[in-house]
Amino acid sequence: MKINNVGVYGGGTMGAGIVQVFAAAGLKTTLVSVVDGELDRALATITKNLEKLVTKEKITADKKESILGNIKTSSELKDFKDCDLVVEAILEDRNLKKKSFKAISEIVSKDCIIASNTSTISITELAEAVDTPERFIGMHFMNPAPVMKLIEVISALQTSEETSKAVMELSEQIGKTGVLVKDSPGFVLNRILIPVINEGIGCLADGLASPAEIDEIMKLGANHPIGPLALGDLVGLDVCLKIMEVLYDDFGDPKYRPAPLLRRMVSAGYLGRKTGKGFYDYTK
Ligand code: CAA
Repeated sequence: MKINNVGVYGGGTMGAGIVQVFAAAGLKTTLVSVVDGELDRALATITKNLEKLVTKEKITADKKESILGNIKTSSELKDFKDCDLVVEAILEDRNLKKKSFKAISEIVSKDCIIASNTSTISITELAEAVDTPERFIGMHFMNPAPVMKLIEVISALQTSEETSKAVMELSEQIGKTGVLVKDSPGFVLNRILIPVINEGIGCLADGLASPAEIDEIMKLGANHPIGPLALGDLVGLDVCLKIMEVLYDDFGDPKYRPAPLLRRMVSAGYLGRKTGKGFYDYTK
């Protein structure tokens, strides 16, 4: 199964990053967003990222232009009609996602693979929104998508072997490493990583050390590239809370209880980098 034309639905941080990855790998990429101003913001981010790579002499100016030339933007789902694969990266709202998958599956061909970049919602549940759920799969990119090597490939109970094989091959083709996992709350990455962030927040709430000290401990003591509180700010504290809530509800296990301080940070609108304030200040 050859994938040449890809679509990405949603142009936020993850959507824009995924578009950059596909376009840089030479795939014709259609980005669709219905959110006001999101297409312009996504293109500006990608252009800025590529310009940095030109400055660092990692790519040429011509290459930058050819990558940008691979990207088409639209505010209409019908522009996905020639895609061999569509990856959804919209808000983490299961009903909105299901409605979108139903609409997309009615536009694309029956062979088109439909994937979700959801960080926690059950792929098996989402697959039910598509008429032929065998072609549905999870394709979980990490933030920042252009940098991180992993794609967690999640097969739903309904996903066909042909679909997972095609997505694993594509992951390699775009310079990433796909790891195939079964559908389960938080899959593997977030089931491990987000509780680590949650526990870091618990240490802070217990007054054990400052954010910088907690992060230093995990950087120097466990060789993590950034500490759990800085990572929470990077991922978005609202996203972390949502993932903890899904783990807590779906497993029914108290070990996944969201840290009360995480809830308070989200209530205050301190969501991390995207709002300029989280455990650190990003306004300066
Ligand atoms: N977009 C594109 N490139 C970026 C970037 C971005 N947003 N952020 C950093 N980079 C690039 C930089 O340009 C730099 O490139 P060069 O090596 O070519 O110069 C490189 O990444 C390293 O960046 P920095 O030197 O500025 O900073 P750093 O050494 O601290 O690295 C990092 C930044 C790669 C993000 C590193 O801190 C890191 O690996 N952090 C952990 C990230 C992580 O764990 N992500 C997973 C989050 S969980 C998730 O995404 C799943 C989910 O569902 C919630």
